Amino acid sequence: MARGKTILITGVTRGLGRAMAEEFIRLGHVVLGCGRSQPEIAQLQKQFATPNDFAAVNVAAEDQVAAWAKRILSSYGAPDLLLNNAALINRNAPLWEVSARDFSEVIDVNLKGVANVIRHFVPAMVRRRNGVIVNFSSGWGRSTDAEVAPYCATKWAIEGLTQALAQELPSGMAAVPLNPGIIDTDMLRSSFGSAASGYPAPDEWAKSAVPFLLKLGPADNGKPLTAPVRGAND
Ligand SMILES: NC(=O)c1ccc[n+]([C@@H]2O[C@H](COP(=O)([O-])OP(=O)(O)OC[C@H]3O[C@@H](n4cnc5c(N)ncnc54)[C@H](OP(=O)(O)O)[C@@H]3O)[C@@H](O)[C@H]2O)c1
Repeated sequence: MARGKTILITGVTRGLGRAMAEEFIRLGHVVLGCGRSQPEIAQLQKQFATPNDFAAVNVAAEDQVAAWAKRILSSYGAPDLLLNNAALINRNAPLWEVSARDFSEVIDVNLKGVANVIRHFVPAMVRRRNGVIVNFSSGWGRSTDAEVAPYCATKWAIEGLTQALAQELPSGMAAVPLNPGIIDTDMLRSSFGSAASGYPAPDEWAKSAVPFLLKLGPADNGKPLTAPVRGAND
């Protein structure tokens, strides 16, 4: 059997991050995850034994990301797959009603948080000339809607940032922006309200998304991708 991969995931306490963590572990891979909520991190540590590793880290705080990366890289080496999944969405509102503070928070997590994780983990991957970086984008990274302008701005930025990163990586590596599709999570409930329940649950989504992520490689470098919907092709 092929060796399990080491998967680094930001935002594992809820939603897609948590569902991916559980599915990767179920398939025999090692998950190194973070999120801000300490009780959820403690619960994950209890549920999944070492070598899986969960830490309370705010990706928007560079010092926290730096300390996390130092510990993880010295214990596990560079990850095979880095999933920049953690993100926030603004409360539905026209752009002129979003406070400067709320606007900054979305930018700090969705964009600067991704750059922080890349700055501290990717050099070790580049030294090995191996590994795939997936930056979670959105349908709203390729189209727009009213009342989610700050979020759209960050996800459009993720598409550009990721394609430029793809041009910088050595051969043997890949960086891709990924639209995960539409999944019933806290984030979707924030923007869609009760209509979110009409979309797949995260664990159902992860059953097709995780095998898709495991197959990504150098041939995908720079391609804007969309996760498969279960049942669409099987
Ligand atoms: N659900 C969808 O339909 C959908 C559609 C398009 C794109 N996406 C993208 O998919 C990704 C996952 O979304 P989701 O729906 O699973 O969202 P979610 O349910 O709101 O979960 C977000 C996760 O990110 C973590 N997080 C937020 N801020 C963080 C920070 N500063 N540092 C570390 N962790 C942080 C949260 O945990 P803590 O609160 O514990 O930190 C949580 O685990 C996001 O990038 C999102 O933009 C989702």
